[in-house]
Amino acid sequence: MDGLEEKKERVRQHLERANNLPTLPVVIARVIGMVDSPQTSSRQLGDEIAKDQVLTARVLKLVNSGFYGFSRPISTITHAVTMLGFDAVKGLVLSCSALEDMEEALPGLWEHSLACARTCGFIAEQLGIGEVEELSVTGLLHDLGKVVLFQGFEEEFHQVRALVETRDLLFCEAEEEVLGAHHGLVGGWLLERWALPAKLVAPVSDHHDFRPQRSHAEWTAVVHLADVLCRAEALGSGGDRKIPPLQPSAVRLLDLGMEDIRKIMERMDAELDDIPRM
Ligand SMILES: [Fe+2]
Ligand SMILES: [Fe+2]
Repeated sequence: MDGLEEKKERVRQHLERANNLPTLPVVIARVIGMVDSPQTSSRQLGDEIAKDQVLTARVLKLVNSGFYGFSRPISTITHAVTMLGFDAVKGLVLSCSALEDMEEALPGLWEHSLACARTCGFIAEQLGIGEVEELSVTGLLHDLGKVVLFQGFEEEFHQVRALVETRDLLFCEAEEEVLGAHHGLVGGWLLERWALPAKLVAPVSDHHDFRPQRSHAEWTAVVHLADVLCRAEALGSGGDRKIPPLQPSAVRLLDLGMEDIRKIMERMDAELDDIPRM
């Protein structure tokens, strides 16, 4: 095994064993267990989440933030669960629990993630892809690997940041150099450990490494495009000053023309004005 492969294996093993992954408090663990059980009703799930006031407030704030474009405000968790479906709620709860960790890891990462989530929704609507909510949650989680690296490999994380500065690299390029694995892969390992479905995991793993032949390529292409557009529009921050290159094969797979992309960007300009440009 060469040095980089060894490092990558060390990161992967950390994901298998570590207990200090982005926090999974008791209530979240219970919610996840309930989501996975076929016996759980929307009301039971809503009641469980509602026991945690901070989590409830965050989920409702996010649901009502324009994230899903509901025409009327959603005021109860049970209502949110009914509207969004179990898997979307699971991802949402996980994202909300990681919010503070994201802010601590990289200023602007939460805003970037939120912008990406909403842009995923715009793209999905433009393309007529169903399951907009779940796709948006994937956008919200796509850079979570950066939080894992920040928490589990602090020294290397600082090396990555220094490398980004001195050599003007993309964050994922610097991660590959220092750790042998970029945050997409790492985030995917985390979501696998959290037992999220493959259609949510694949776009996170592959968002910097799009290949049309891989499974769930359509969703991955959406997340990839949303990420690049958010970086191009400087919505929040991904921790570097560069815009990741847009893979032409992803645009081809989605069958989007310049006019379609222009429409998506117009919608971003109009509807994401509450997210700071950085
Ligand atoms: Fe990323
Ligand atoms: Fe990103």
